[in-house]
Amino acid sequence: MTSVSPEWTPASWQSKPAAQMPSYPDAQALQTALAQLALLPPLVTSWEIENLKTQLAGATRGERFMLQGGDCSESFAECGSDAIVSKLKILLQMSLVLVQGGKKRVIRVGRFAGQYAKPRSVDTETCNGVTLPCYRGDMINRAAFTLADRTPDPQLLLRAYERSGLTINFIRALIEGGFADLRHPEYWQLSFVAKSPHAADYTRMVESIGESLRFMEALSGSVMADIGRVDFFTSHEGLHLHYEQAQTRQPPHRTGWYDLSTHFPWIGERTRSLDGAHLEYFRGIANPIGVKIGPGFTPDEALALADRLNPSNEPGRLTFIHRLGAERVDECLPSLVEAMRRQGKQVLWCCDPMHGNTETTSTGIKTRRFEKILAELAASFRILEECGAHLGGVHFELTGDNVTECLGGASGVTEADLARDYRTQLDPRLNYEQAMEMALVLAGLMAKKAK
Ligand code: PEP
Ligand code: CO
Repeated sequence: MTSVSPEWTPASWQSKPAAQMPSYPDAQALQTALAQLALLPPLVTSWEIENLKTQLAGATRGERFMLQGGDCSESFAECGSDAIVSKLKILLQMSLVLVQGGKKRVIRVGRFAGQYAKPRSVDTETCNGVTLPCYRGDMINRAAFTLADRTPDPQLLLRAYERSGLTINFIRALIEGGFADLRHPEYWQLSFVAKSPHAADYTRMVESIGESLRFMEALSGSVMADIGRVDFFTSHEGLHLHYEQAQTRQPPHRTGWYDLSTHFPWIGERTRSLDGAHLEYFRGIANPIGVKIGPGFTPDEALALADRLNPSNEPGRLTFIHRLGAERVDECLPSLVEAMRRQGKQVLWCCDPMHGNTETTSTGIKTRRFEKILAELAASFRILEECGAHLGGVHFELTGDNVTECLGGASGVTEADLARDYRTQLDPRLNYEQAMEMALVLAGLMAKKAK
């Protein structure tokens, strides 16, 4: 149980400087929307949250592995059946590949059912001499470049809560109903594998997944029996603190406060200041939490942050989601891992190989290279081993569709291809084939270690 000093309340963050918060022109309209939000039922339960924390404690000890992924930013327009099904499928297929490689249970965490608020590096955007507030995610304003669309609208907080509820409702139903077709990897869209230099390894791995699944089915009559109940947890960046506060409750028979808008909220790279409002809010909730850490993060900060956010050193409570970039990971990661290890701090190391590897093409398109993403992932895996720790999870921006947003991979997305199917409103995502390939490579690394 996280111990919280008495002065914490769900609103105590309001006395601290809050970075990245939108400025609403009508304060009363914001209060009205928040009051409504506070009356609505929670999206998740404290029981599920505690279950996830227990599983993450297992991952911290090296017994499980976390796969976290989804859109950079969900959009209201894409809250529909196909998008949700395809996201769930890719995460489930990747997790089966990782189970096969790592021989350990995989915790599936979606960046979904609430990933609607985005931090931005600048506050405004100028186009043809007109300057407007920048787009901050569908929970806050709209992407179209007009003053009306870009003005933060508190009603969108309610729309985001509803979309999150609709998404999680459908996900729960899909999980209950089962994904029968997933037991046959021969039906997965894996023809791209043939183009990889590791085609033979991949084909062997996918065949053995099929064999294991059929074997388990024959044994128990239930295809997923050995992989555990196929559960999915939700996560999003806990950026909009008014929204999170309105969903913060003290459930009956519990002593702690829980953020019931999601199972696993994280603090972004731009809002993790020790004296800031986000740290103040997060230190008081009982959820397992993540903190994104970029190349500027020092070992002293790591220790101070762990003391503040996890004073009782509870395993499963704190995950560092490192996003250092392929070029900086060798320089930055070892001293962080060493500092935490020396002080006996319980932390789960989870690599986000996306956000440190973003670049802009000569034609101005934001993209990421498959090779760099993979390089950071492989380096993180190696460095953590060398430091006597282990990589306990991965965090991807991905989609189940074959969009063309990231470059490279076995199917060879080129710069010329980017224009073909570039859909993301913010960061570029791995497509189905690139995400599967990433899982196959990672499973290979895990299999070598498991031997
Ligand atoms: C994100 O996860 O989309 C994001 C903004 O990440 P970071 O805080 O690591 O920059
Ligand atoms: Co992003």
